[in-house]
Amino acid sequence: MLPDGYRIVPLRVDHAEAAAAAYTRNREHLAPWDPVREESFYTVEGQQDALVRQLSLVEGGLMAAWVIEHGPDVVGRVNLNNVVRGVLCSAAVGYWVDQTHLRRGLATAAVEHACREAAAMGLHRVEAGTMVHNVASQRVLLRAGFEQYGMAPRFLFIAGDWQDHNLYQRILHDAPLPVTAPTFG
Ligand SMILES: CC(C)(COP(=O)(O)OP(=O)(O)OC[C@H]1O[C@@H](n2cnc3c(N)ncnc32)[C@H](O)[C@@H]1OP(=O)(O)O)[C@@H](O)C(=O)NCCC(=O)NCCS
Repeated sequence: MLPDGYRIVPLRVDHAEAAAAAYTRNREHLAPWDPVREESFYTVEGQQDALVRQLSLVEGGLMAAWVIEHGPDVVGRVNLNNVVRGVLCSAAVGYWVDQTHLRRGLATAAVEHACREAAAMGLHRVEAGTMVHNVASQRVLLRAGFEQYGMAPRFLFIAGDWQDHNLYQRILHDAPLPVTAPTFG
């Protein structure tokens, strides 16, 4: 459950200013877990560009994106990335929380929100990868009902290196796909 005073809302272009401020405040906090960013990423214009790109993916059904708001501030993000339909029906959840709002259940609530939305989108499964030493993120996933199903060596290029990741998934339902659903083949 989301603690009092916080809201999870769909991403909008006009989040750019608060998002730039949030990424600037949290630059060191997020650096070990994020790709290396260009300097422009931390500017309002850079965020406008990034959010426009992300919202076009949302429009195309390839992504879903939300912001955690506290008053006028952006204090976190949660995304469903790489939405795939067909026989996989899956997406990858990504999230972060502002360093001054940690350990209040925000990430857990955000991941649970993304899973409810994924189920409403008709997806079967949500996956997540965490660097092997990201204990906080692993706790979030376990609390949100995910289970670890593997470890992928050199899985993602994070913080300037190909990093090993623990792989997690949460199965949302076991309803069969309609026989008319598009499949590979
Ligand atoms: C990982 C992160 C999102 C957790 O956010 P949060 O809002 O503090 O998480 P929650 O409050 O929902 O905590 C969920 C669980 O994680 C535990 N936890 C949180 N931070 C922890 C830490 N630093 N060490 C150990 N456990 C931690 C909490 O205690 C809780 O577990 P519990 O119920 O068993 O006590 C946040 O630390 C963050 O933004 N990290 C940097 C970005 C990142 O790692 N993103 C994920 C990439 S896969």
